[in-house]
Amino acid sequence: MGGRGPTLRLAPSLLSADFADLASAIRRCEEGGAGALHLDVMDGHFVPNLTFGPALVRSVRARTKLPLDVHLMIDRPAKYARAFADAGGNTLVFHVEASDEARATVRTIHDLGVGAGAAIRPGTPFEALAPLADQVEQLLVMSVEPGFSGQSFRPEVLPKIRAARAALDAIGSSADVSVDGGITVATAPSAAREGASFFVCGNSVFVGGEIVENLRHLRQAVDEGAAGAVR
Ligand code: DX5
Ligand code: ZN
Repeated sequence: MGGRGPTLRLAPSLLSADFADLASAIRRCEEGGAGALHLDVMDGHFVPNLTFGPALVRSVRARTKLPLDVHLMIDRPAKYARAFADAGGNTLVFHVEASDEARATVRTIHDLGVGAGAAIRPGTPFEALAPLADQVEQLLVMSVEPGFSGQSFRPEVLPKIRAARAALDAIGSSADVSVDGGITVATAPSAAREGASFFVCGNSVFVGGEIVENLRHLRQAVDEGAAGAVR
């Protein structure tokens, strides 16, 4: 691969937006140059929180052409993959800790004609993700315990971001390394430096301030980090 890898993208997580006014949140994200929208699906079982299902993904799909990155924090992701693909998800990201066999889940997702991503919790070693590097469009390194927005970034996951990028580069894959949880102007540069290309941002986009302005600052932080990348 020619050095730099995939384009850097910001993916606002709509979990931190006002659900009663998603249409305007989506418009602001587009204006602010978001590269995708991130949708956090939680089942109250795999994680101790409940959010939304395919119906909301479908409503968001009707409002934007941005890629929809659906983060499935649920057990039995394969069972629900079709519903989220039909609803308009472009990439379905499942957890390797979930109950379904990972490779079979990737096949199920690909058979639906959408992208597949594999995610690990902060406490899961990179080795759990490594065997999927040549099969997926995204490796997601969680930088908070999945379940809630607004938590603090865990710097101890940075070596896993680097390992993920290295594993992809080694096989010439331009798949994304995604980082999710606690990404702010203060933490984004370190993730970018280690090779993250896809930055999920919840509270730092939607809470306290202007969405477009917040995205502009985050973009600056990501670009600065990437300029000092180790790769
Ligand atoms: C956490 C979710 C994240 C979260 C990000 O379980 O997967 O996508 O909403 O929110 P912040 O950026 O506020 O940590
Ligand atoms: Zn997420």
